[in-house]
Amino acid sequence: MHAIIPVAGIGTRLRPFTHTLPKVLVNVAGKPILGHILDALETQGVTTATIVTGYKGDLVEDYVRSASSINATFVEQTEMLGLGHAIWTARASLATEPVLIILGDTVFDVDLSVLNTAAFSSLGVKSVDDPRRFGVVIQNGAFVSRLVEKPETPVSTLAIVGLYYIKQPWLLAECLGELIDGNVRTKGEFQLTDALQMMVDKGEKFTTFPVDGWHDCGKPETLLATNRFLLNQRQAPVAPKGCVIIPPAHVDPTAVIEHSVIGPYASISKGAVVRNSIIRDSIICDAATVTDMTLEGSIIGENAEVSGKFASINLGDASVVRLFQ
Ligand code: UTP
Repeated sequence: MHAIIPVAGIGTRLRPFTHTLPKVLVNVAGKPILGHILDALETQGVTTATIVTGYKGDLVEDYVRSASSINATFVEQTEMLGLGHAIWTARASLATEPVLIILGDTVFDVDLSVLNTAAFSSLGVKSVDDPRRFGVVIQNGAFVSRLVEKPETPVSTLAIVGLYYIKQPWLLAECLGELIDGNVRTKGEFQLTDALQMMVDKGEKFTTFPVDGWHDCGKPETLLATNRFLLNQRQAPVAPKGCVIIPPAHVDPTAVIEHSVIGPYASISKGAVVRNSIIRDSIICDAATVTDMTLEGSIIGENAEVSGKFASINLGDASVVRLFQ
């Protein structure tokens, strides 16, 4: 199966980390968000992908080429005009073979093999308490009758989670083209949800499939929650001499840990240095240095340095913070 992965967005909610990195390259549980998605897709038999890049797209391209064996092609979305527009940018890959569209900033824990034999297009869905932030589906029996983007009145609690299996991609290309040509926008953007509704109106049948494991990485607090989820599935590393590791935790073999307590729920990435510190429920990104700290609920960006006393901070890449008692 071919995948289309839109990753063009600016990731404003994940600043300061997205000042220097595209959102999908921000680290969670020891590797970039996009790395988890590509690895999961490869494990599930997806061998080719079209990646829609935009903001800091060259970094995404370098990463995918070096870290994944998926056969990827890249298309550039030059203006951030919405998810529908992003997929329209990848319309060359919307032909006859079914495609899977998967958002680049959400880690999924779902068995996609059900889709190999799916008779219809199908949307990954999850029941949510507050549907106003999502696109939702209304079903009539087995099939979707209506899709609504961010409903102001609660018409359904079944949220579309960002996994779309499209059986007739050429029809999606046609509907996206109609949206763009007619300048049909919802909330200022070309919405994929609107194009899917047009497909339904033209007779395309959509079923839904449940996605329980749906882990957003779009904000610091959801990134830390996803870090906890991913670490729960890991074996704890062996503690270096003079240190304690409280599982679950991740410590990259190239990280230097001295006189420290790591975990629970701490990720220490490549080349990071942690000395005389207690780190829990936090992400320490590549080559960051943490000294004499007790950190909880914190994200320390790549090459950032922090030393001092008890704190809870989100420290952007390459920043330096020194706290004196
Ligand atoms: P989001 O709206 O969550 O991502 O889009 P964003 O815009 O990067 O984040 P914020 O809101 O500024 O914090 C979900 C996915 O769709 C992609 C994003 O890159 C992300 O992977 N997307 C969104 C595009 O590729 N192009 C767009 O025009 C919009």
